[in-house]
Amino acid sequence: MMKRSKISVIGAGNVGATCAHWAAVHELGDVVLIDIVEGMPQGKALDLAESAPVEGFDGLYVGSQDYKETANSDVIVITSGMARKPGMTREDLLEANKNIITQVVTNCVEHSPDAIIVTVTNPLDTMTYLAKKISGFPKNRVVGQAGILDAARFRTFIAMEIGVSVEDIQALVLGGHGDTMVPVPRYCTVSGIPISEFIPKARLDEIIARTRDGGAEIVKLLKTGSAYYAPAASTIQMVEAIVKDKKRILPCSAYLEGEYGLNDMYFGVPVKLGGNGVEQVIELDLNDDEMDLVKTSAAAVKGSIEAMNL
Ligand SMILES: NC(=O)c1ccc[n+]([C@@H]2O[C@H](COP(=O)([O-])OP(=O)(O)OC[C@H]3O[C@@H](n4cnc5c(N)ncnc54)[C@H](O)[C@@H]3O)[C@@H](O)[C@H]2O)c1
Repeated sequence: MMKRSKISVIGAGNVGATCAHWAAVHELGDVVLIDIVEGMPQGKALDLAESAPVEGFDGLYVGSQDYKETANSDVIVITSGMARKPGMTREDLLEANKNIITQVVTNCVEHSPDAIIVTVTNPLDTMTYLAKKISGFPKNRVVGQAGILDAARFRTFIAMEIGVSVEDIQALVLGGHGDTMVPVPRYCTVSGIPISEFIPKARLDEIIARTRDGGAEIVKLLKTGSAYYAPAASTIQMVEAIVKDKKRILPCSAYLEGEYGLNDMYFGVPVKLGGNGVEQVIELDLNDDEMDLVKTSAAAVKGSIEAMNL
């Protein structure tokens, strides 16, 4: 019998619940929502199920505090943990989220030893490294979401600037998911036409700065938390690539063993994402300026990983 994919989302807060929503609407599989708050994931799962007759999608949507419900998941999305408030950096979340990720990953692995883990919790590259360490999974089965979101912000700002469809903007953002992220304008095009044909360098530099601060811009506006529509959409694009074995080329936080001269760390790079998770890390021939930015970003991520004292 053909079975639907099973997607468990840990943390049913803003990002987690929105992930469940996108996964359901795109009919990617059955969805289990787990949270420590009694009743909350149950309520959100039931509410989601009750939207299905109106929107016209099928699946099972379950909310629980019990990890038994997640058994034999194909994909586990981890969004549990603290989000930023105004004035906080992603690194400020490290101590609190380290404990949460350790506990959550231990529980998930017990019930779904063959799953692919997609992490979202910040600081992203560090928490993804931790998830790999705690799970003991091979590197292809633990991947973090950051680059799709960062590139989506870059694409949005470029489309706004030149007044064209966001669909026609391709952009690439490498590096750690933090202030040192590396938007790469050389790989940015409007339907294949280099971005330099549309936007002068000085203005593009301003757009790059806004991209780097894209998360903080939303935190400042919301005041009580951080972004979730675009983060969840980006995460579910990864889930879709996995459950449909699409072999998409997407910027993700992947475990590096020598690529880009970096070792034993998670870092944002283009990967081939399919049914086996990260099936390939794509190495780009970066110029010296780009490589300098990558090195600065890598040093920041390394420092964060070392701060965990694993
Ligand atoms: N990688 C990215 O691009 C990206 C983008 C946005 C947000 N984030 C991060 O995602 C995380 C979640 O953000 P949010 O806006 O959904 O926050 P939120 O506060 O709305 O939701 C977090 C949820 O996690 C739950 N939780 C806490 N400890 C738990 C545990 N031990 N087990 C299960 N659930 C637990 C909380 O009860 C809460 O419902 C944050 O760390 C945030 O910084 C990452």
